[in-house]
Amino acid sequence: MTDHVRVSVEDGVMRIAFNRPDKKNAITNAMYLALSESLQRAETDPQIRVVLFEAEGDAFTAGNDIADFAAVAAGTLARGDMKVHAFLEALARGRKPYVAAVQGLAVGIGTTMLMHCDLVFVAEDAKLSTPFVNLALVPEAASSWLIPARIGYGRAFAMFALGDAVDGRSAAALGLANAALPVGEVRTKALEAAQALARKPAGALQATKSLMRDGAAIAAVMQRESDVFAQRLQSAEAREAFRAFAERRPADFSKFSG
Ligand code: COA
Repeated sequence: MTDHVRVSVEDGVMRIAFNRPDKKNAITNAMYLALSESLQRAETDPQIRVVLFEAEGDAFTAGNDIADFAAVAAGTLARGDMKVHAFLEALARGRKPYVAAVQGLAVGIGTTMLMHCDLVFVAEDAKLSTPFVNLALVPEAASSWLIPARIGYGRAFAMFALGDAVDGRSAAALGLANAALPVGEVRTKALEAAQALARKPAGALQATKSLMRDGAAIAAVMQRESDVFAQRLQSAEAREAFRAFAERRPADFSKFSG
């Protein structure tokens, strides 16, 4: 298992920490594998009652590692070998409660995965963003449905299409997060909440979660998004976006007409 995801279990809480701070916790294929295996373990291990997502360093995560996107676009990583799908499927169908502690940047899947967390604590100055169109991509993780459902179409469109970020305070006000806290308090508060959930009757908790979320419908939206996402990854627009990121320059989409 990669060192870039750290997993521990104590008092019924599985803590999953992104641990690649020098790359703003950008998530590689190996990390997705570790994440999905941990969630599968959480589902089947009766000792684990709650999962807590957290992160080392100043960012929650800068989203999918763009080098992996570029590898798929170049054909050196097969789409079928992308472990993100297993992670998304596990998020969609997970029965146990998920809690998240978010500081700093939460880009792309860093924000969309929060739509699958049952309690979310953010730093007041956190920045949640889903700039998929800037990368010539489309929303994933059922976010094309779940984010507009939370915050309305216009705000969601601005997040996806313009790359508008939502700060922590606004995220709490809009219902993307439960609470915005000073950055030093976020992980403690999230852990306390996870521990409180771990003391609740697990059967009632899981039944409540499954009544509130239609896992099969969410998985169906993910599949639809994933088909379009795969086409977009192969597009000339996306290749330009990934090259621009690697070359640290703004992308130039003027020569593509859609
Ligand atoms: N994929 C791969 N590497 C990433 C990354 C990502 N998503 N996000 C950050 N990194 C790397 C940078 O390349 C840099 O690596 P280097 O030190 O070897 O050059 C390192 O992490 C630090 O990032 P840097 O860009 O120097 O930090 P910053 O504070 O100036 O900017 C971001 C941080 C997150 C705003 C910027 O890195 C960024 O825009 N990343 C891409 C985010 C994104 O579009 N994710 C995909 C969403 S679908």
